[in-house]
Amino acid sequence: MNTKYPDKLQVLYPRQEIEVAVARLAEEITREYQGHNPLLLGVLKGSFVFMSDLVRRLDFPLETGFVQLSSYGRGKESSGKIKISHDLKTPVLGKNVLVVEDIVDTGNSLAFLADYLRQKKPASLQICCLLDKPSRREAPVPVHYRGFTVPDKFLVGYGMDYAEQYRNLPDICILSE
Ligand code: IMP
Ligand code: MG
Repeated sequence: MNTKYPDKLQVLYPRQEIEVAVARLAEEITREYQGHNPLLLGVLKGSFVFMSDLVRRLDFPLETGFVQLSSYGRGKESSGKIKISHDLKTPVLGKNVLVVEDIVDTGNSLAFLADYLRQKKPASLQICCLLDKPSRREAPVPVHYRGFTVPDKFLVGYGMDYAEQYRNLPDICILSE
């Protein structure tokens, strides 16, 4: 099915390209994590579509968990202040934690989350993001698995929103307004 989008949405990565990228990431993750029963930790809400596609391609025992961070509010710019609005319920101590994120932009959210998780003493901690927007980085974040490096545009779809809209789009689109 091809979706006809309004003019303000321009497809950057169609669903077929996303699928190929997720399959490649799943292969890389399998090579490193198979047999290590990792905890895949999705960052809500943006990662929920990516996370669900990714875990279904990982054919080995693993755990899943979610945290929710708040920083962006309802606009396009981060407020800069990060807090945990939904904490994880799964213990992290001694686990091989792989954080699953939709997009790393300034890096402030993941820098905060990584500090928070390190205090809980995981056996290992790595980051997998579907999209990396390095041009806007403010806090250094080591990205171990990356789907695409993206230009400095505001992106929606495949879990990502603008003012809570567009998360349901199957393709990743540039939003211009
Ligand atoms: P940070 O600036 O790296 O802290 O990004 C925090 C979060 O903002 C990301 O995990 C996304 O959920 C969201 N975000 C960043 N850039 C975009 C974008 O282009 N579209 C939609 N959400 C974004
Ligand atoms: Mg996110």
